[in-house]
Amino acid sequence: MVKKYVFGNPFETDAVTAKIEISEQTGGIGCGSISTENGFCFRYQMDRDDVIYGLGEANRGINKRGYQYISKCSDDPNHTEEKTSLYGAHNFIVISGKQNVGLFFDYPSNLTFDIGYTKQDLLTVSCERADLYLYVITGESAYDVTKQFRKIIGKSYIAPKYAFGFGQSRWGYKTAEDISNVVKGYRDNQIPIDMVYLDIDYMQDYKDFTVNPERFPDFPKFVQGMKDQEIHLIPIIDAGVKIEDGYDIYEEGVEKGYFCKREDGSDFVAAVWPGWTHFPDVLNPAAREWFGSKYEVLTDLGIDGFWNDMNEPAIFYSEEGIQEVNKAIAAYAKELEGKGSEQVAGDDEGEDIMNNANALPGEVRSKMEQLQNNPEDYKRFYHNVNGKMVRHDLVHNLYGFNMTRAAGEALQKIAPDRKMLLFSRSSYIGMHRYGGIWTGDNQSWWSHILLNLKMMPSLNMCGFVYTGSDLGGFGSNATRDLVLRWLALGVFTPLMRNHAALGTREQECYQFENIEDFRHVIGVRYRLIPYLYSEFLKAVNNDDLYFRPLGFDYPDDRRAIETEDQLMLGKELMITPVYTQNVSGRTVYLPEEMKFIKFMPDGSIYEEIMDKGTHYIEVALNEVPLFIRKGKCIPVVDVAQSVAQIDMGTVQYLGYDGASYELVEE
Ligand code: NOJ
Repeated sequence: MVKKYVFGNPFETDAVTAKIEISEQTGGIGCGSISTENGFCFRYQMDRDDVIYGLGEANRGINKRGYQYISKCSDDPNHTEEKTSLYGAHNFIVISGKQNVGLFFDYPSNLTFDIGYTKQDLLTVSCERADLYLYVITGESAYDVTKQFRKIIGKSYIAPKYAFGFGQSRWGYKTAEDISNVVKGYRDNQIPIDMVYLDIDYMQDYKDFTVNPERFPDFPKFVQGMKDQEIHLIPIIDAGVKIEDGYDIYEEGVEKGYFCKREDGSDFVAAVWPGWTHFPDVLNPAAREWFGSKYEVLTDLGIDGFWNDMNEPAIFYSEEGIQEVNKAIAAYAKELEGKGSEQVAGDDEGEDIMNNANALPGEVRSKMEQLQNNPEDYKRFYHNVNGKMVRHDLVHNLYGFNMTRAAGEALQKIAPDRKMLLFSRSSYIGMHRYGGIWTGDNQSWWSHILLNLKMMPSLNMCGFVYTGSDLGGFGSNATRDLVLRWLALGVFTPLMRNHAALGTREQECYQFENIEDFRHVIGVRYRLIPYLYSEFLKAVNNDDLYFRPLGFDYPDDRRAIETEDQLMLGKELMITPVYTQNVSGRTVYLPEEMKFIKFMPDGSIYEEIMDKGTHYIEVALNEVPLFIRKGKCIPVVDVAQSVAQIDMGTVQYLGYDGASYELVEE
């Protein structure tokens, strides 16, 4: 059962699509207590055994107990354990114990979930303004509550089948030749691949919806040439539109008043990759439609997929921020002058100060450090929402959602009969209807393989089914074993993309020794695509989860509930990736009898029925393990070099004798 409560004057976020009557709060909301005196605060006394699921793209475990999380879409590339905010804001949790209650706090600004951080057994959810909708969902299990939630937020985005192929990306591929070399590296080595991603360098001076003509002399021909090799090129689109005379998108946006504005009505200016930019006001329906229509510039050139980036929106610095630093420097210079210091004498004093940044007083340094993604900047610009000016910080978490909605709505118009690939960095619940997400700038760390794994079911709970992380890690230098182990998890994530940051060690699969191991692991993905895509479609069509925590399927098994390094996938599988270095296997927990399967590097398949309980399984770097649930089977096909080449004529079934599988196709 779903109940909807209203507090104050909420902003309509469009997260929920179901029409639900508002319930009276007489006698509370049936769970915990609420105060609205100093902002909003929900309090709930957790039982010792309560598990708190949810929060989508958030740090730490599947059970969120024992830390605090702040919904505040943040461009922060250091996902260390203490971080409280990442790129998304997914305000749905399920309290699972003696009762199972789901809570969705539909509030688009900063919201703090203190889940036993301040007091071990106390859950509080609080925000500054008591203006929100609260949905309270009761059901018989955490799984049941989650499915009810998924139903009210509307059907998730369906990615095209090719997007279940493998993709290679790197920030630093600059020219058509660079891209061709990547494709050659894969095709020559017979490592299957379907997508190569274009990062910001394909653009002319980082201008959205442009292509650098020197780097790509005949882009449509190049795109077609790639298609002929069954490669889809997936360009990035950034939130900030470069300020440059003669750039049509900038000029049109200014003329139509479609950029975010300061209080005085001038267009807000922030620096991102292109230098000074304006942010399209994607919360204004007309501006959203306008920005979305620009994707056609690239679809007209043959493009059929996009990734939306920097849409928290990320700000390197604003004009106001720079002015404040300058003021602080001037004040410091004056102070030194007063003291008769010789340190900064002469005409170049500003420059001298900047060159000696370490010698600057704390105040100046702290102003400089605060330039990036400064909360003050988010208070400096406004959205025009149906004629009303709404200050950005009050709706901050909706920007990435609406940028991707702009694209999603436009792509439906541009090609109503064709599915396009679309995913975003920043998101809010509701965006799941328009696109997927990737989990942003992780690092080539073993701990981030596990973080990737743990985020997946939580993301599914919040509607994001087409998801994945930068395999091999974005920042830091990757090693061969890490890439292989991470790929063996990526075999199962809907988005399977290897992506790395500029300046890091090259981590394309053909850069390492014994390329056949990479060929094999990615080949296993292609053998499983009919099954994985079928389970993806089933999850989307039935408001179900593709990945589930073990506790969803075995709610009475405490050991299963506490196992956070294995996941249920579809109705047939349990996955148990290896995520530590220098090991030849791992320990797994089986909540019931299952069949252990290993895809061996020689193409054979190892099978062994294992009893309920704890086992140590050996998994070499070039093997892919999975478990098939008792009485189930899955289809597997022969390896193909691209999704288009998958031959259903080669299908065979793996698992328990006598089992059958219903394959759902597009
Ligand atoms: C930040 C994104 O998270 C990353 O994936 C991308 O490579 C860089 N921006 C450059 O565009």
